[in-house]
Amino acid sequence: MTDSPGSVKEQLARLFDESLRATFPDELDVQPQIAVCNNPRFGDYQCNNAMSVWAKIKSRSSQFKGPQPVGQAIMHNLPQSEVIEKCSIAGPGFVNVVLSRQWIAQSIQKMLIYGIETWAPKLSVKRTIVDFSSPNIAKEMHVGHLRSTIIGDTLARMLEFSNVEVLRRNHVGDWGTQFGMLIAYLFEKFPNWQAASAQAIGDLEAFYKDSKRRFDSDPAFKERAQKAVVSLQGGDEEYRKAWLQICEISRKEFQKIYDRLGVRLEEMGESFYNPIIPEVIELLNKKGLTEESDGARVIFIEGKNYPLIVVKSDGGYNYSSTDLAAIWYRLNTEKAEWIIYVTDSGQRDHFEMVFVAARRAGWLPSEENAYPKASHVGFGMVLGEDGKRFRTRSTEVVKLIDLLDEAKSRCKAALVERGKADEWTEEELEQTAEAVGYGAVKYADLKNNRLTNYTFNFDQMLNDKGNTAVYLLYAHARICSIIKKSGKDIEELIKNETLDLAHKDERVLGLHLLQFPEVVEEACSNLLPNLLCEYLYNLSEDFTRFYTNCQVVGSAEEASRLLLCEATAVVMRKCFHLLGITPVYRI
Ligand code: ARG
Repeated sequence: MTDSPGSVKEQLARLFDESLRATFPDELDVQPQIAVCNNPRFGDYQCNNAMSVWAKIKSRSSQFKGPQPVGQAIMHNLPQSEVIEKCSIAGPGFVNVVLSRQWIAQSIQKMLIYGIETWAPKLSVKRTIVDFSSPNIAKEMHVGHLRSTIIGDTLARMLEFSNVEVLRRNHVGDWGTQFGMLIAYLFEKFPNWQAASAQAIGDLEAFYKDSKRRFDSDPAFKERAQKAVVSLQGGDEEYRKAWLQICEISRKEFQKIYDRLGVRLEEMGESFYNPIIPEVIELLNKKGLTEESDGARVIFIEGKNYPLIVVKSDGGYNYSSTDLAAIWYRLNTEKAEWIIYVTDSGQRDHFEMVFVAARRAGWLPSEENAYPKASHVGFGMVLGEDGKRFRTRSTEVVKLIDLLDEAKSRCKAALVERGKADEWTEEELEQTAEAVGYGAVKYADLKNNRLTNYTFNFDQMLNDKGNTAVYLLYAHARICSIIKKSGKDIEELIKNETLDLAHKDERVLGLHLLQFPEVVEEACSNLLPNLLCEYLYNLSEDFTRFYTNCQVVGSAEEASRLLLCEATAVVMRKCFHLLGITPVYRI
C-alpha cells in the first residue's frame, strides 16, 4: 500500500500554497483557492486567489499593479511538478492549470496497482456518529424511515471509506407512555404472554391500533395502562420482560428490512438514555438555561415560535429530553466529533433547538462549523404518482417489505423476458434480480438532492435507460464483458503495460476517474449523496463516449485501453459500494 496522495485539488493546493508563501511571505492567512475550471477549454483546474490577495495588499504594495500581475507572480513561483503540464492567466488573475496527461495516467495506474483505497479522501474528523433509520417500536416502519436508512447508510459508508470511525446508531423509539398501553393490552389479550410466540402476537401494528382503541374507549383499561407505565418505569421485573418481548418482535421485523438492504446498524434506542435524563437536565438547570412555563420546564430559543420542552408539566420526559441526554452522552462520553442525524425535514426545528441548547450549555462550540459538530440531514417526502404522500390503494401505509419484493420480482420478470432463465442458474437469476431491484430503489432515492420530495415510481426507477441503477449496473457489466472478451489477463496488463491517454476522450475519462476522491470528499462534507450519483452517471457517460470513439479490442492501443476500462470498472464498483448497491458482472 502506498499512502494516499490526496485528491487532485489537494495536490494542487499544496503546490499553490508553496507559491503563495514564496510570493507573499507576509500574508500568512492566505489559503489556496482551487476549483475545477469554469471553462474546460482553458484548463482543468484554476487557482482563484489573485483578486482577494490584491484586495488585501493593494494599499501597501508598490510591486504589483493589479490582480493580473498578482496572478502572474503566483503562476511564476509555482514549484516544478510532474502534476502540471502548463498554466495560463485569464481575466483578473485566475491561474488556469492544464494537468499533465502522463501524470493523470500514472495516477490511475498506481490506483490499479495499490487499490482504490489509496484514493480515499482525507477528512479532518476521526469519530462520527450517524443516527439513522430509527423507527419506532410497535409502529410501522414507513417510507420516511426507508429514506433515512438508505441515506444514512450511504453517508456512513462514505465516511468509513474515508477512514473515519463511524458509530451507526439506530435511535429506535422504544420508550414512552405508549408502552403502558401496549403492556396492559398484552396482559389482557395473552394472559400466557411469556409463552406466546411472536406469531401469536402477530402483526404489531394491528396490535398497536387495537390497544389504542381500547385505551381511548375504556376508562378502566386506560387506568391499567397508566399504572403499567409507572410499573415499567419503576423497574418492575414482569413489566420489563413484557416490554422487552414487544421490542424483540419489532426488532425482528426491522431486521428483515436491514438484511435485504444490506444495512448494518447498532441499536441504542431512546430507553438507553432514559436513566441519564435527570442529571443532564440538572446540568441545564444549573446553567440557568431552563425556565418554568405552564408547569413545564422549557428552553426558549430565539426565532422559534415555541420553546423546547425539557420536562413536561406532568413531570415526564419527552422526545426532546431524550435527545438532549443523547447529545450530551455522545459528546461527553463517546467523544464523537461529528454527530449526524438523518430524519425527514419536518424534524429540522427540533434538532436546531437541541443544537442551540447544547451550544448554550457549552457542549458544542459556539461557532457552528467548528468541531465537535452536530448536523441535521433532512430529507423531503416520498410521493406517490398522484403527487400526494406515498400510500397504497388501501390508503394504508406502504409495507416496506412488499415494496422491496415488488422491485425484485419486476427485475426478475425483466430478466426472464430477456431469456436469462435459459442461460443462468436460478440462483444467479435471484441474485441479479435482488442486486438490480434493491439497487434501483436505493439509487432512485439517492440521486435526488435529499431535500426535495421524490416520486416513487417503479417504471421509472427500473428503466434500463437514463439515470437509473439498472442502466448503471448494466454499464458496469458491459465493461466487464469487454475485458473478458479480450481474453487478456488484466492483472498482467496492470503490471506490465502502460496506460496512455492520447485520445481526447481517453483524457476526459481519465481526468474524471481521478476526480473520484474529491467528489467523495465533497459528498461527505456537505452530506449530499446525490453528488456521488451525479459523478457515477457522468462517469458512465464519459465511458460511453470513449468506447464509441476509441476501438478497444483488436486496436493498437488495446492494452492501454483495457487498463482504462478496468479503472472505470473499479471506480464504478466503489461508487456502487458507497451507495450500498451490489454490482453485477453479467447481463
Ligand atoms: N424515531 C424517530 C422517528 O421515527 C426518529 C429518531 C431520530 N433520531 C433522534 N436522535 N431523534 O421520527
